[in-house]
Amino acid sequence: GLVPWLFNTQLLGEKLKERFGLSDVIVVPGNTDQDLFAQEDLSRAGAEYLRKILYPGCIVAVTGGTTLAGVAKMIREGVDARDIFVVPARGGLGEEVETQAGNIAAKIARAIGAQYRLLHIPDSLEASTAEALKKDIHISEVVKTIRSADILIHGIGPAEEMAYRRGLSPAEVDFLQKNDARGEALRYYFDKDGKIIFEIPGIGIEIDDFTHIGTKVAVAGGSSKAAAIEAVLRSGQENVLITDEGAAQKIIYGK
Ligand code: G3H
Repeated sequence: GLVPWLFNTQLLGEKLKERFGLSDVIVVPGNTDQDLFAQEDLSRAGAEYLRKILYPGCIVAVTGGTTLAGVAKMIREGVDARDIFVVPARGGLGEEVETQAGNIAAKIARAIGAQYRLLHIPDSLEASTAEALKKDIHISEVVKTIRSADILIHGIGPAEEMAYRRGLSPAEVDFLQKNDARGEALRYYFDKDGKIIFEIPGIGIEIDDFTHIGTKVAVAGGSSKAAAIEAVLRSGQENVLITDEGAAQKIIYGK
């Protein structure tokens, strides 16, 4: 019935908030691993939350992935978008067009009537290439905007799956396994204690920027992401989690 799940999602939200020291947690019913409706719910919850925290003049950085693509699809107009900039958080090209951070940033900006800036460079770069590109005047302007983001909204992925999706080398995959990597966010890989153990060189937000970004919102659901979400939250860097019952249940009760 209606009352049990309402109670369950709220209770799970409270427990997550307390365990990870978050300021806000939203848990949508169901498990997005299996349920298309839950997926839509999660996207909608992410979109509504973002709309609520936007303010004139703010800079919003977004990552790629299917979850954030869902958020972009669900975002509605009707916000005061004066001088709001939406930018990709890190990198830009590399995934399917639909799930690229730049595309998602542009979509959100168009939907709410904000402006956007893009980085027309690949997601994954060799460290030396990344360093050289950062010195380019056009790129450095955009990077400055990105790194001064006020709001960051991002996905979280299981380390192994993300390593595969990002085409990491066998040696890198081996390293991640040996160091017990659990979760990935913004091309950083976290172990179960929330420590960053590996990073793909990229352009945009760096981990040092996390301290001055006012609001960091993670959107990730599905019981298959429980360990990944937990790893990233253990870093202590997040403010807000938007997730589903499937993930929340597994994080809190282990099943
Ligand atoms: O970094 C994490 C990924 O962007 C999450 O991707 O939303 O497609 O699972 P996903």
